[in-house]
Amino acid sequence: MRVVPLLALILGASVLGAALPGGGVVAAGVAPHTVVVPPITACSEINKRKIIITRTSIGIQGAVTTKNWRTSQWATSVLDPMYRLSSSYKPTNLVAITWRGVISPKGGYLLKREAAQALSAMFIEAKVSNISLKILSAYRSYATQRATFAKWVAQSGLQQARKYSAVPGHSEHQLGTTVDLGSLTGVAWSNPKFPTSPTALWLESNAYKFGFVRSYPAGSANIALSCYGAEAWHWRYVGKDLAYEIVCSAQVPRIFLWNRQNGGDRVIGPACDSFTPPDGYVLPSPSVSPPASETPSETPSESPTESPTPSPTGSEPTPP
Ligand code: DAL
Ligand code: ZN
Repeated sequence: MRVVPLLALILGASVLGAALPGGGVVAAGVAPHTVVVPPITACSEINKRKIIITRTSIGIQGAVTTKNWRTSQWATSVLDPMYRLSSSYKPTNLVAITWRGVISPKGGYLLKREAAQALSAMFIEAKVSNISLKILSAYRSYATQRATFAKWVAQSGLQQARKYSAVPGHSEHQLGTTVDLGSLTGVAWSNPKFPTSPTALWLESNAYKFGFVRSYPAGSANIALSCYGAEAWHWRYVGKDLAYEIVCSAQVPRIFLWNRQNGGDRVIGPACDSFTPPDGYVLPSPSVSPPASETPSETPSESPTESPTPSPTGSEPTPP
């Protein structure tokens, strides 16, 4: 267990806050308390676990339902090879969106309404900067993820596929808040030059302003902490405030969200100077952990049924 004595940190607080050993800054005015954050299981350990496949199911040995499994907790759910959603989890308020980011019943992709609205606004703003985005993948049900994972296993084998494709139940795409984005006119997502293409660079600089964060950043240290290879196309909507705090923290989202869902400290990180806070941003008040007594169950759905995913994107294959 890691214990962060915030009181000691607050004692040295400046107007903005106090320096954290890890490089962050504790918000000034936050009530001093002691935060106990249990360590998250290392990716290197989880990724050694067996994938158990039976005629009717597939799962990772020792995997458990994510702590924040409720539909209302979509923003902070940690999904990695250890933490999963139930196979019956379906987000509420899914709306259809076209591959060009227009919310319309004719759209071939589904996203949670908040995420779809933010994405739509981002497409418009990108266009102003001459960046033409397109959706390559959005909400994927458990069954769709099962088919997606099976496709990658058929292509590169189980041990290779698990490095970049989530076992069903473990994908952020099942949250209905995550999209794979590519370029309408430029370099394809599968091209090794995509991460340095104008589209990917624009997303790196701007997606947080619309509430999206990159779940799988590049670099071996980040990959070791996010549990999957770098994906410059995979963007998860968490809302503007959380996205700002995540980019500020300079932590990979998996680690930031783990700390947050365990009642970790409200930290304004070391990278904030490079990012603009959302309009009206206020530091969050000390969080109170919800009772952990409920057990996962079938979740009610107000959403349309998943439509077959059309591929209006020409010959470009869907990313993992
Ligand atoms: N490619 C990511 C890890 C997914 O399958 O959700
Ligand atoms: Zn993805």
